Amino acid sequence: MSDVTALPVANRLPIVAGDSSPAAARQEPRAASRMTTQSASPIKTASGQLVDRFGRVHRSLRVSVIDACNIRCQYCMPAVGVQFLPREHLLSFDHIERFVRTAVALGISKVRLTGGEPLLRPELHSLVARLRAIDGLQQLALTTNGMLLDNQIDSLVSAGLQRINISLDTLSEPTFRQLTRREGLDRVLAGIEATRRFPQLELRLNSLVLRDVNLDDIYDLVDFAQQRQCTLRFIEFMPLDSDRQWSQARMVRGDELRGLLAERFGPLLRCADADPSQPSSDYQFASGGGRVGFIDSVSQPFCAGCDRLRLTADGKLRNCLFGRDEWDVGEVLRKEPFDSRALQALLCAGTLAKHAAHGIDAPDFRPPERAMYQIGG
Ligand code: 5AD
Ligand code: SF4
Repeated sequence: MSDVTALPVANRLPIVAGDSSPAAARQEPRAASRMTTQSASPIKTASGQLVDRFGRVHRSLRVSVIDACNIRCQYCMPAVGVQFLPREHLLSFDHIERFVRTAVALGISKVRLTGGEPLLRPELHSLVARLRAIDGLQQLALTTNGMLLDNQIDSLVSAGLQRINISLDTLSEPTFRQLTRREGLDRVLAGIEATRRFPQLELRLNSLVLRDVNLDDIYDLVDFAQQRQCTLRFIEFMPLDSDRQWSQARMVRGDELRGLLAERFGPLLRCADADPSQPSSDYQFASGGGRVGFIDSVSQPFCAGCDRLRLTADGKLRNCLFGRDEWDVGEVLRKEPFDSRALQALLCAGTLAKHAAHGIDAPDFRPPERAMYQIGG
């Protein structure tokens, strides 16, 4: 997937900075990754957008608002002993708004709020309202485990939330308890039902399957989603769990899931991609029973079309889930008076240092230091 020609046309721009040679693709990130605010100088791209060395235009940003969570999914967190960031290390809403405004001025048009569990961040709806007021931000979304949703959905929708992804890996309470080491499937289901009261909100359910835990649940999940006319997407287990228990054997590949679902529900037909940067491949049941998406991040990486940047809850910019490089944008955001050019420079540097692909299939791949909850799911 390191071939630039594999980039979807819609996400390719002439390369305006940096070196696009194959040697550059393999090169270690530039010294810019260790840049301080003092040495950073604004990098102008011809388009005024965040374009990397492979011509990928970055339009999408994930903002983690908190690393804490109220459950302990096996594929993400340890069962015990997890240390969350002290409150004072989290970016404030002022800082997050500053960051998003600057990113939107550089062409970011979609923002997704994540965590940890973002609904644990007090007054999240007020951040939603502030971000929705930013001119040029076209889409504001949230990813949540749903546990606290039924109480918050009204205020989130009133504040202007447009999309929501809710994690739902099982419909069985014992399996939920095994998977998350907590009780509360009923809370998640109440959150889903509360959300369905707002048809203007685009709702998706995300399921992650561990072979030894919830593989048998896929049929009920598909039935559940179809009965409610919700989009369901299966996400492959990625090596981002803090227990380092990821293995090929525990992960269930998307193609295996498609095979199992086709045996039960009949043939699945591939749908055309509406958006080339979307990670999900959508399928439709030939019988007419709705759509299922598959995010095959491990078996079929979609790096060539990746248009994402990430902001961690403690103020680090990351250009890849699996990368090891971070840029300390928190330092710039916290400094008064705010220097938006210094922030722009870090955004450009972080984008330019992006690798062609995440390389998790390479024999020398080392998972990032941070687990999923510390990066932002
Ligand atoms: N692999 C893939 N997705 C993960 N998530 C958390 N940990 C992992 C992992 N190791 C995703 C799940 C969850 C969302 C919040 O983050 O999809 O639903
Ligand atoms: Fe919490 Fe999400 Fe991690 Fe599960 S995957 S423990 S819900 S942060």
